[in-house]
Amino acid sequence: MSKSKGLLQSLKQRRHRLRNERRYLEAVRRGDYALPPPSVKLAIMERNVPAPRPRVFVETGTYHGETVAAMKPLYASVISIEIDDTLYRKACERFALDANVRIVHGDCAGELPGILATLREPAVFWLDGHYSGAGTGKGVVADPILMSLDQIAAHPVKDHVIFIDDARTFDGREGRPDLSEVFGRLKKINSRYILRILGDIVIAATAAPPPVC
Ligand SMILES: C[S@@+](CC[C@H](N)C(=O)[O-])C[C@H]1O[C@@H](n2cnc3c(N)ncnc32)[C@H](O)[C@@H]1O
Repeated sequence: MSKSKGLLQSLKQRRHRLRNERRYLEAVRRGDYALPPPSVKLAIMERNVPAPRPRVFVETGTYHGETVAAMKPLYASVISIEIDDTLYRKACERFALDANVRIVHGDCAGELPGILATLREPAVFWLDGHYSGAGTGKGVVADPILMSLDQIAAHPVKDHVIFIDDARTFDGREGRPDLSEVFGRLKKINSRYILRILGDIVIAATAAPPPVC
């Protein structure tokens, strides 16, 4: 890509991001349950990881790899599990040159325990592997979140930082878990977890930054 084309593309991306952020802020101001754009979700994850930052980031559900791309400069190791064949292949191509990125193919229900077995220290989890409509994959269950949390609960390290996307979907309907079940499972991992929801993300960590007024 030529230099001027690249510059034009990054200007377009910036304008798109700013427009989405403005829409989000307007919705919050109106009092709506607003779904944050990716830039805000990434900022929430960044703000809520305690210092010093863990060295390992684990994601369930790679999709197009946008979160992997954002996290790879920040972590010594980024591991992401994707069930869909095409999305997996594309992610492997995208991150082929990144030595600290590992894309794992399969259902996180089956793959997460193997990844956990390699961890000896607190890690950051971004649990986001669930069926999301056409072009995405589906595992043994449409949303394996409770299985993932039970698998993390079986791990000897108890102070992982856990982010779970799409908090609004935990409504206890049509086979989906209820928020209280998700919170209950998180407290089983560590009863000292501080649990919050910010920008549609459930956050579980042993420390939380103070609110900003
Ligand atoms: C909402 S998207 C993930 C978005 C991505 N985490 C991000 O931050 O950009 C959900 C992804 O999870 C994948 N998926 C669905 N069920 C899964 C499972 N059981 N194990 C692993 N991946 C799964 C889907 O194919 C889809 O790519």
